[in-house]
Formats: sequence, C-alpha cells, structure tokens
Amino acid sequence: MRRPEDLDTVRESYDRVADAYVEMVETTGLGDIRTHPWLQASVDAFAASVAGLGPVLDVGCGPGLVTAYLAERGLDVTGVDLSPRMVEHARRLFPTCSFQVASATDLDLADATYGGLLGWWSLFNLPRDVLPEVLASFARALVPGGRLLVATHVGDDDLERTEAYGGVPVRWTTHQWRPEQLASLLEAANLAVVADLRLPAEPPIGPTVVMCAARR
Ligand SMILES: C[S@@+](CC[C@H](N)C(=O)[O-])C[C@H]1O[C@@H](n2cnc3c(N)ncnc32)[C@H](O)[C@@H]1O
Repeated sequence: MRRPEDLDTVRESYDRVADAYVEMVETTGLGDIRTHPWLQASVDAFAASVAGLGPVLDVGCGPGLVTAYLAERGLDVTGVDLSPRMVEHARRLFPTCSFQVASATDLDLADATYGGLLGWWSLFNLPRDVLPEVLASFARALVPGGRLLVATHVGDDDLERTEAYGGVPVRWTTHQWRPEQLASLLEAANLAVVADLRLPAEPPIGPTVVMCAARR
C-alpha cells in the first residue's frame, strides 16, 4: 500500500492536538457519541450487526472512546491510531482496553479475520488516491458479512487545515467526500452499502455522512 507523503506531518499534528482534543471531549462532550443520539445509534446498530462475527478493529481510534464503548457492549475490540500521543491518552483513559500505534495504511491485516472495522472520523486525512486501497484492505480483512462503519465530512473540498481544536497549529488536509462517491468507493472495494445516514451541518461540525457496508 502506498504511504501518504504527508503521513509524518499528519502524525505530528495529531500528537500536537491530542491534549486539546481530549480536553474538548471532556469539557464539551463534542466527539463523544453518547452526546449525539444519531451517531450513538449508528454505533449501536454496528455493534449489534457484528456481534458474534469476530474481533473488531477501531482504526483511527483517537483517545479510544468508541473502542471503549464497543468493549462495554461485549465486543472483542482493539483501537489503533497513527498518533502515539492519542494512544497514550486512550491507554490512560481506558486501561482495560487494547490499543496500538499504526497507520491505516500500514496495518498488514490478515484476510477474513475481522467481524467489524471502523473508520470513525479517521479516514478524511487519507489522500484521495490512497483511500480506495485502504478500503480494499479493510474489505479483505473482514469475514464475509463483516461490517465496516465510516463517519466522515461531506463536501467536495480538500481543506488545508493550519489549526484545530482551539487554535493548536496543525498541517493536514481534510478531504471531504460526497456520500455517493464514498458509496462507489465502498462498492468498488467489494463492500455492499447497508446503511447511509446523512446529517446536516451542526456547527462546529459540517455536514456528515455515516455509512455502513458489508463484505460480500
Ligand atoms: C478526529 S480524530 C477521531 C478520533 C476517534 N475516531 C474519535 O471519534 O474520537 C481523527 C483520528 O484519526 C487518526 N488518524 C489520522 N490519520 C490516520 C491514519 N493514516 N491511520 C490511523 N489513524 C489516523 C488521528 O491520529 C486521530 O486520532
């Protein structure tokens, strides 16, 4: 799989924002699905649909809230994230859960192993020509019928971010996707879309799509 040219810059940026991100979640509830009934319901439906299918990998888990949420629901789940600082927070906040540092582009996933995979607000930094390869690797790693859950920013733009989470300097690109483009990428990766939830902008978050797809 191709390594994104900006991967080191993106990692350093998330390392820099990790403390502010955790503080934001803790003080405002933003980024915590339990404060957002539609996002929570999506993760609940995903959890129900992968129960009994095999282990689950939360790719781009950040400080681990969704990983821990799924573990509480009885799933055998591991979180993995590009940013060592994010993973440090995840291990501190959820010491009984399992977390690793790695990029979505460097996971070397065994074929037909996972019941579920998540790219929960964590795939939008992948360059447009790399995301299809990542989705194909996710599809191969799922057992037949296993599910991938994606949440991401909707739009057509490649936004160059220079600050995030309260003014922390960062350098990354947020690649927005139109839901129909994302659906096409999933289908091309041998995944069948089973749910497609559109959420309008709700400042400070822009329009969102949550999509779940099953391995054929
Ligand atoms: C907005 S945060 C979301 C974190 C978590 N999924 C959540 O909802 O709380 C985006 C996360 O994606 C991670 N990330 C970005 N690019 C990644 C990559 N190539 N591989 C793995 N994680 C990545 C970042 O380090 C960051 O923790």
